[in-house]
Amino acid sequence: MSVETAEAPAASARVRMEDIVSLCARRGFVFQSSEIYGGINGFWDYGPLGVELKQNLKSLWWQRVVRARADVVGMDGSIIGHPRTWEASGHVEHFSDPMVDCRACKRRFRADQLDDAGPCPAREGSSEHDFTPARSFNLMLRTFIGASEDAASVAYLRPETCQAIFTDFKRVREVSRQRIPFGIAQIGKAFRNEINPRNFTFRSREFEQAELEFFVHPSERDRWFEHWIEERTRFHRELGFDEGVLRVRPHAPEELAHYARAASDLEFLFPFGWQEIEGIHDRGDWDLRRHSEFSGKDLSVFDDRRGEHFLPVVIETSVGIDRTCLALLCNAYCVEELEGGETRTVLRLPAALAPVQVAVLPLSKKLAEPARRIDSELRRRFHVAWDEAGNIGRRYRRQDEIGTPFCVTFDFDSEGDGRVTIRERDTMEQERVPIEGVASWLAERLEPRP
Ligand code: GAP
Repeated sequence: MSVETAEAPAASARVRMEDIVSLCARRGFVFQSSEIYGGINGFWDYGPLGVELKQNLKSLWWQRVVRARADVVGMDGSIIGHPRTWEASGHVEHFSDPMVDCRACKRRFRADQLDDAGPCPAREGSSEHDFTPARSFNLMLRTFIGASEDAASVAYLRPETCQAIFTDFKRVREVSRQRIPFGIAQIGKAFRNEINPRNFTFRSREFEQAELEFFVHPSERDRWFEHWIEERTRFHRELGFDEGVLRVRPHAPEELAHYARAASDLEFLFPFGWQEIEGIHDRGDWDLRRHSEFSGKDLSVFDDRRGEHFLPVVIETSVGIDRTCLALLCNAYCVEELEGGETRTVLRLPAALAPVQVAVLPLSKKLAEPARRIDSELRRRFHVAWDEAGNIGRRYRRQDEIGTPFCVTFDFDSEGDGRVTIRERDTMEQERVPIEGVASWLAERLEPRP
């Protein structure tokens, strides 16, 4: 049997982004949107494996944040809301980045990220760009509703999912009969017209967020802020992010968003450095107060236990699904040297998130029929891949590279002794298991998916 020499898991900082991007394209996790037209900057498509990874992550989030708790309910709001929403939220006024253009090469940059601008390709003899003064650029993507394209029909694609939670707060609280403290959670697409999308899916123009808005009495805000930092850190540990790759970074007062009284980022160590994957904010009563003012509807609550009317304070947790998928891939990616100098690429994804849970491999095409019977039975409980092409070593490598925790091999002895070989991804250890016991053997090792 082969011997591993690489340390596990791989340090995400040592991984090269080009290897992750290449694996994602080659195996169809994530690739450029509209690829046949040359792609469109800042937009990405998830293929068959990517969509499974993303779906598993969203299901785990929903399970931990919504279903496991009696004090959180879910909702799914529309992407386009009333344009007044974005005046009330402050996005029309505040949601902008400083932008500069180079007069020579016509490229556009964020004024606060000029270190990455590089030499100007249009100015021979001078490596420098010829920048315009910085201008403020609103990041909201606009569209028009209805037949005319005038100012009155402008609408915005939401730049964050949470505003629907605030505008629907009163109705959702009433229908769910929740009392403060309680939360409303949502997963959905958000859109930002980023000046400089970069680092693969890390900063894109269309992405998914999983957000929780937790409404509390003002006197309890600090306790709940700490509670949610702990809960969310625990969640990321479950994803396999240990202290070496995940840290909590409190914001300095000058960094705080216009609505925030306190904030901490959960940062992951990507190959391009420590970067935010989740923000936890004490948003105060900013959102409910502003929506009350702009809509004329009173969004305060009456707490009969306290005998008091008040506007709840919001503790928000907001995680990027795409960024977390990218972090998962960086953390799981590993190239190991095997005995004999051979190497294998393995994605050490947590079994709960792996796109494929088990692969069924008949050693020869002649064994396909009995192996198909195992495949059909396992498909009722697990996400299964079928692979009958190529030598068995190569097929194991294909599954390692996409993070499949177990391979079930039906060989020439299987019909005689009624057993198959189950091979584990990380240790590459193999065990003979009776065919009728395969499903329960796997179920013991693969936690039921949320
Ligand atoms: N509602 C609060 C809010 O939207 P944010 O820090 O702007 O806060 C929260 O975004 C999370 O959304 C980030 O931590 C990140 O994971 C994700 N995110 C934000 N902008 C993104 C972008 N352009 N591309 C991918 N993910 C993004």
